[in-house]
Amino acid sequence: MNMALVTSTEMFKKAYEGGYAIGAFNVNNMEIIQGITEAAKEVQSPLILQVSSGARKYASHTYLMKLIEAAIIETDLPICLHLDHGDTFELCKSCIDGGFTSVMIDGSHHPYKENIELTRKVVEYAHKHGVVVEGELGRLAGIEDAVNVSAEDASYTRPDEVLDFVTRTGVDSLAIAIGTSHGAYKFKPGTKPQLRFDILEEIQARLPGFPIVLHGASSVIQEFVTMINTHGGNMPGAVGIPEDMLRKAASMAVCKINIDSDLRLAMTGTIRKYFVEHPDHFDPRQYLKPAREAIKQMVKHKIVNVLGSDGKA
Ligand code: G3H
Ligand code: 13P
Ligand code: ZN
Repeated sequence: MNMALVTSTEMFKKAYEGGYAIGAFNVNNMEIIQGITEAAKEVQSPLILQVSSGARKYASHTYLMKLIEAAIIETDLPICLHLDHGDTFELCKSCIDGGFTSVMIDGSHHPYKENIELTRKVVEYAHKHGVVVEGELGRLAGIEDAVNVSAEDASYTRPDEVLDFVTRTGVDSLAIAIGTSHGAYKFKPGTKPQLRFDILEEIQARLPGFPIVLHGASSVIQEFVTMINTHGGNMPGAVGIPEDMLRKAASMAVCKINIDSDLRLAMTGTIRKYFVEHPDHFDPRQYLKPAREAIKQMVKHKIVNVLGSDGKA
């Protein structure tokens, strides 16, 4: 096992120098893993597959490891397996001990000093085991693991803290808040989302060559919100992060872009449409097949048109 799981170190170095970013896609089951990895194989892109604590509870560590092992055998791609939003040392340790090659310790909800202490502790353990660590400074709005951070409680990353944080914790990459937001309901319809590229530039100047991570980077592709709503769904309208802004971020210091909601929308829209068009079908393979294909097409689109990591495997 782990024969070809890699850390993100080389991926980020090349991505930084090449002005592109690596997609970090959330995985929960076999069809999602297959859709993502088949897309990456077709366009020869390196890949980060990330698992939230909710996903790990849902599918179990062992199933996810074995499914990802199968994906490596099938694709022969450089794949990094990452814990998304680890919230405790114990969870990070369990993933490190269980074969993950990268963990995020998200101490962004803690005061600065506690964030440093917790992150430092995870880094010490991870580095001893050859695993890399993503930390976070600043607070995104939106929903993650049932925690809802309101727009008022969100706060941009302070550029004057980043060098101190990275030096004192030893993290390998840093997630920052510059206006992205978790979930499918990022901004009200009619809003024009703005990313604070001035903050990103300042962070980049203070940490030259250091890989930056963007969470909450789904674009909430309207085609799939419409597909859900025209097939029995009732989602309120919402606006995501425009893809041209993500492309710009990828050309700067941003080396990892996290995408989950766009995959959920593609999968759910496709399944809803299938049920409406085939009300008599009940074989799960019949509706999971197009759902897997929708994930594949979405990931290919992201890799080629947004991230720019095609051909870099
Ligand atoms: O940022 C959170 C990711 O979209 C994972 O979501 O915690 O519901 O698995 P989850
Ligand atoms: P989205 O909800 O915008 O897809 O963000 C996913 C994410 O940040 C996972 O950590
Ligand atoms: Zn996130």
